[in-house]
Amino acid sequence: MSPAARILLVEDDPGLAAGLLSVLEAEGYHMTLARRGDDGLALAEAEAFDCVLTDLRLPGLGGLDLVRRLHAAKPTLPILLMTAHGTTETAIEATKLGAFDYLLKPFEMEDLIGLLAKAVDSGRRAGSAPEFDPQRLGPDAIIGRSRAMQGIYKELGRIAAKPVNVLIRGETGTGKELVARALYQHSDRAKKAFVAVNCAAIPETLLESELFGHERGAFTGAVERRIGRFEQAHGGTLFLDEIGEMGASTQAKLLRVLQERVIQRLGGKDVIPVDVRLVAATHVDLEAAMTDKRFRSDLYYRLNQVTVALPPLRERLEDLPALVGHLAAKHAAVLGFPPSAFPEDALRILHAHRWPGNVRELENVVRLALLRSRGYPVTAAVLLEAMANPVGPGVAAESPDLRRLVAESLAAAQRGDAIDVHARVIEAAERELFSQAIALADGNQAKAARWLNVSRVTMREKLRTFGLKAASDTDPGE
Ligand SMILES: Nc1ncnc2c1ncn2[C@@H]1O[C@H](COP(=O)(O)OP(=O)(O)OP(=O)(O)O)[C@@H](O)[C@H]1O
Ligand SMILES: [Mg+2]
Repeated sequence: MSPAARILLVEDDPGLAAGLLSVLEAEGYHMTLARRGDDGLALAEAEAFDCVLTDLRLPGLGGLDLVRRLHAAKPTLPILLMTAHGTTETAIEATKLGAFDYLLKPFEMEDLIGLLAKAVDSGRRAGSAPEFDPQRLGPDAIIGRSRAMQGIYKELGRIAAKPVNVLIRGETGTGKELVARALYQHSDRAKKAFVAVNCAAIPETLLESELFGHERGAFTGAVERRIGRFEQAHGGTLFLDEIGEMGASTQAKLLRVLQERVIQRLGGKDVIPVDVRLVAATHVDLEAAMTDKRFRSDLYYRLNQVTVALPPLRERLEDLPALVGHLAAKHAAVLGFPPSAFPEDALRILHAHRWPGNVRELENVVRLALLRSRGYPVTAAVLLEAMANPVGPGVAAESPDLRRLVAESLAAAQRGDAIDVHARVIEAAERELFSQAIALADGNQAKAARWLNVSRVTMREKLRTFGLKAASDTDPGE
């Protein structure tokens, strides 16, 4: 594309080299030839090229080693690998090491010319685009200077150190958990515990023992005493995430704890005083849930002494460039890429999207785009692809709730923060399966049991365990 572009060709076969040189010079490229891998590396390190085109098998230094060492020295210099020994292994290895792309010999000259133009273009953008500051801010920083976000910061400043329970609201992915942690860090309880419980990730049957603990023998399987989250958070902050998913019985117990400031472990007699600052979060419409009697209004008023309502991303698009910069820096570091820029046209594409998944969706798109770009600047094409399929093929069909539950449970387990991950995830999956099956069968247990190939007894047991309703003539609950 650019007639003045300088290309380094590393090729030991004199016939091939001569052919490539003449074709590419005719295209207007300024060509330099090296016949050995080590010579090629030295030349590329010493001089400014727009692209390196190299063979795989070379004397002195092999093509893959050349890619690795050159990419380490000049991460934005595009390298194209030509190979007659094309296996997927080589291809994967080459791209992993940082090659921009590869060509299988024999290839059409047109393909080479097209690829070369793309590579040169990409390398030049990388050179000219402003690099993102590797962020003095930590990965947990709240990004955004829009009016809406400034309002949030002021509110957080006013309430963080006050003894009030806070309800954080906002659509999925708007940063509720981030804000909960910020509240904690700016509170006078910052030196005490911050304990987080995701009410949606824990089956109702286990949530109460998770929150309040249990004594040994309190129920089948309670082989040891367990200290609950409330006790762990004593003196500090308890974050109840997805509070809208909490079942009726747990709501009742939680209300009592808030009123009386004491807990009782399940199966225990002792009354244990707890001093806990409660921060709750939800993306559901709690007012509607109250109308439907799914959420207690007395609990609502206890939790909601102050509300922080986070704006959806589409209402603060002016924060998009800063968010992209922050997320790109964060994930480039995780993925081991140099910080890479999102050029103007890419940002324009991001601007046009509605972001139903808010910052989390943006984060997924940025991560995937970085992964696909392998450290080179993110092009519009790559970005559109990442947005079309933010989770990658094969996973999209799965329930996002389950996938998220699994991810969150595993993350909690890695922090040493979860018990019975396997049992919980299986239980949640089962609950989903049985609840959908019985609904689809219009409450007909025999039909649902047949579909799932389980016995009627099992079906009845599961319905009872999960508190699901069957048709009245086959009512499982006696
Ligand atoms: N203002 C922001 N600045 C930087 N990162 C953000 C911001 N808001 C959200 N994020 C990031 O987006 C992701 C989702 O945020 P978070 O988990 O806090 O959302 P949430 O509101 O709790 O979502 P959900 O309702 O789905 O649980 C996190 O990785 C978080 O770090
Ligand atoms: Mg959350």
